[in-house]
Amino acid sequence: MVRFLDDFSLKSYTTFGVACKAKHFFEFTDSPDLEGFLKSDKFCREKKYFVLGGGSNLLFIDDYDGLIIHPNVPGIEIIREDRQHVWIEAGAGEDWDEFVHSCVAQGFGGVENLSLIPGKVGAAPIQNIGAYGREVCRFVEAVKGYDMKTMEEHHIPVADCKFAYRNSIFKSELKGRFIVLSVVFRLDKFPEFELGYGGVEDEVKRLGGVNLQNIRQAIINIRTGKLPDTKEVGSAGSFFKNPVVSYAVASDLKKRYPDLPTYPAGEGRSKLAAGWLIDRCGWKGYRNGGVGVHGKQALVLVNYGNATGKQIFELSEKIRQSVFEEFGVSLEREVDVVS
Ligand code: EPU
Repeated sequence: MVRFLDDFSLKSYTTFGVACKAKHFFEFTDSPDLEGFLKSDKFCREKKYFVLGGGSNLLFIDDYDGLIIHPNVPGIEIIREDRQHVWIEAGAGEDWDEFVHSCVAQGFGGVENLSLIPGKVGAAPIQNIGAYGREVCRFVEAVKGYDMKTMEEHHIPVADCKFAYRNSIFKSELKGRFIVLSVVFRLDKFPEFELGYGGVEDEVKRLGGVNLQNIRQAIINIRTGKLPDTKEVGSAGSFFKNPVVSYAVASDLKKRYPDLPTYPAGEGRSKLAAGWLIDRCGWKGYRNGGVGVHGKQALVLVNYGNATGKQIFELSEKIRQSVFEEFGVSLEREVDVVS
């Protein structure tokens, strides 16, 4: 299936839900259709394009004066298995949480702690989604996609994906050039459970004991208590990354603010909780018209319905500035800002 539309509203295509139009919009469900389109006049005359997947980590500041390419490749298929593992290929257009649900229902472990993260499967490797002690990169075998520069399909094995905290080759060298078509995951038939983060263990106990279903349910319960439902309130999850600073900077801050949460980040570095820094600057629950900071998690900016991309962006810059003034720490955006 392909669709090509002009003057297309993107409001329902990003979880922030800001009003925004694209000059052109192209949607496809399989790679020959994409290939055909990329060789057509419609694409060749276009100067500016952007690949929009699940839109869960994106903020459009304005209308988009170019072409939006929207991959919507379906399908979830077991492609291989052995005694320990199963390899599943999932189309970039599949809903991430439905994919997690199907893995848990079949007893395949790995991604259960990533339950309820909004967005599509194709976005998962791009920013290496992570939550409650798990990052998706541990369960990715390869990413398949289309390279707009070489005009060829590529299969990028996990070792070449340059995965790091909320980062990958798709957010750096291959940014704007590689269209994810599907992801191959390697999941465990005898899962190891990860309970050591953010109250998961207590919630799992309360639900009756450790198994995949209870972990998924515990994560759902914890997330819904803390993060907005993107179907009701516009947001893109954490707006900033948790900053990584030298151990010396972290211990200096810890002397001034003994309750500052810090986590080891390897090589003499520490990760700070950006939500705590923003909260301490007094932003939690802030609201100005349609734009605000979530009342239970200061790392999340929200659109109460009619905020513009510009207003959200301006608020984020004020927050960044106030955190820098108070703590001397620069926050880096997790959300991709598009103009
Ligand atoms: N905190 C505050 N005030 C706040 C928010 C947080 O004091 O308003 C404190 C918390 O009490 C806790 C610490 O900061 O001591 C960390 O907070 P939390 O456990 O909620 O996690 P986070 O570091 O803020 C990260 C991810 C989330 C993920 C959670 C759970 C990033 C940027 N964010 O948030 O991911 O769900 O851990 O694993 O790494 C996302 O990326 O969109 C996202 C939601």
